[in-house]
Amino acid sequence: LASLEVDISSIEPGSTVTVKWRGKPVFVRHRTEADIKLANSTPLNELRDPEDDAARVLNPEWLVVVGVCTHLGCVPLPNAGDYGGWFCPCHGSHYDISGRIRKGPAPYNLEVPQYKFTEETKLLIG
Ligand code: FES
Repeated sequence: LASLEVDISSIEPGSTVTVKWRGKPVFVRHRTEADIKLANSTPLNELRDPEDDAARVLNPEWLVVVGVCTHLGCVPLPNAGDYGGWFCPCHGSHYDISGRIRKGPAPYNLEVPQYKFTEETKLLIG
């Protein structure tokens, strides 16, 4: 199956770019210091699908997640919701800045696809 190379050099801190990979949206978020702090200050016992932020990223500055809500598959909106991450408008699921489900009907965190950095500013997804 196809891999996708993404040049991330022009993605500003605080912004999210959506790319298409194997027919699905993938969010690439350039996280700010504040984003990273927020993601790491959340106690695991507050999470429905408990996962450390560190287990979801290769480099804390970059969050890469499949942009498909784990409820019924809508595409969540970036920079929205109550937790500084994404909001799914279909039935109101809120994801945090690590893509973890925080409120609403979705059962799981946004999926982290397989990816790696091929250079400091290049990602290979898949
Ligand atoms: Fe996202 Fe239902 S599909 S909340």
